[in-house]
Formats: sequence, structure tokens, C-alpha cells
Amino acid sequence: MKSTVRGRFITLEGLEGVGKTTNRQCVADWLAECGIEFVVTREPGGTPLGESLRQLVLSAEGQMQGETELLLMAASRVEHVARVIEPALASGRWVLCDRFLDASIAYQGAGRQLGVERVAELHRLMGVTLEPDLTLLLDMPVADGLARMAQRGSPDRIERETLAFFERVREAYLRCAGAAPERVKVVDAAQPLETVQA
Ligand SMILES: Nc1ncnc2c1ncn2[C@@H]1O[C@H](COP(=O)(O)OP(=O)(O)O)[C@@H](O)[C@H]1O
Ligand SMILES: [Mg+2]
Repeated sequence: MKSTVRGRFITLEGLEGVGKTTNRQCVADWLAECGIEFVVTREPGGTPLGESLRQLVLSAEGQMQGETELLLMAASRVEHVARVIEPALASGRWVLCDRFLDASIAYQGAGRQLGVERVAELHRLMGVTLEPDLTLLLDMPVADGLARMAQRGSPDRIERETLAFFERVREAYLRCAGAAPERVKVVDAAQPLETVQA
């Protein structure tokens, strides 16, 4: 019987405007050149239900408790892991994902101040134990990322947060990198795009 080698799971993380979506294409092109079969996806979202949850959680009008935001993000992730990410990895395809659990740790745990450990515990309770093989953390000063983001059009509910919120998010991301240096590679996203991509 032919055994399938499990695919690898790569995530892109970082604040608004650091270039996650831009560099996702670069990584995708590289995987394609290597002849690797892969799936490109994002969070929140990545499934029909997840994309509906994304609309709810990011729509600019809606007010919600931080806990509600966390639960919606986690719900999207549960669906995404079960229906898209795990099946792809099991079939040998690689998965390239724009944001994953580190984003909830950083945004809801630190940004919303719900507690990093609570966010991690919630995911364990929900059976989300999957860890990326590699996380590319695009890092740059908050204000510079927000300036890039501003060129992109009207901000969503989370993008309208305060500088202090994003500073907490950035610090939490960097702590994730410090705690798991083998998995999380920090890329200086303030460099010109060609340098970042190299
Ligand atoms: N290294 C870079 N230097 C200059 N501009 C960049 C760089 N990386 C991305 N950009 C630009 O910044 C904006 C935000 O990039 P985007 O990929 O949408 O960020 P994210 O997905 O992280 O929010 C886009 O207009 C993009 O072209
Ligand atoms: Mg993006």
C-alpha cells in the first residue's frame, strides 16, 4: 500500500498592512516552482461558514464583546482545521494560511486583553491542537504598517483599533516568536518588498 507523506503547514502572521497577503503569493509561487501541491487559505474564513463568520466579526458596524469576537474566531478555526487544513495535510498537500492561532493569541489574548493563556486553553478545549510547521511573522513598527493599510481603503472593525491595541498585538506576536523560535521566523517587513521576499 502506498503511504502518503503528510503535507506541511505554513502560516503568515503580523499586523495590518505588514504584507501578509502580498507575500502569500510569493510563497505560493515558490511552492509551485518546487512542484509541491498546496492549498492557499485564510482566517477567519477558509470555509463557507468561516467566511460568514468573518463577515460577522469584521463588519465595521457590529459592536461585540471581546469574548464574542474570540469565540467567533475560534468557531471559524474549528471548521477550517476539520474541513480544509487537516484533510489537505493528510492527503499530502501543503497548506499556506494567512493568519492562524497566533493571531487569536495576539489580537484577542493581548490586544483585547482576554489573556493569552485563556485563548490557548479555549483552543485546547475545542480540540484544536494543530501547530504550524513554519510561521512567517512579518514584523514592523505599528504606525508604518497602519500607513500601508490606510492605502487599502476603508478599515474593518478591528483595523479601527487604537495604536495601543496594535502595540499590544505586536508585542504578543514577538513573544510567540521568542517562545517558539524553531517554528516562528521573524521577517523585517519594513524592508523593500524584494528584500522581504528573499
Ligand atoms: N515590503 C513592502 N514595502 C512596501 N509596500 C509593501 C510591502 N509589502 C506590502 N506592501 C504594500 O502594503 C499594503 C498592505 O499589504 P498587504 O499584503 O495587504 O498586508 P496585510 O495582508 O498584511 O494586511 C499593500 O498595498 C502592499 O502592496
Ligand atoms: Mg491581508
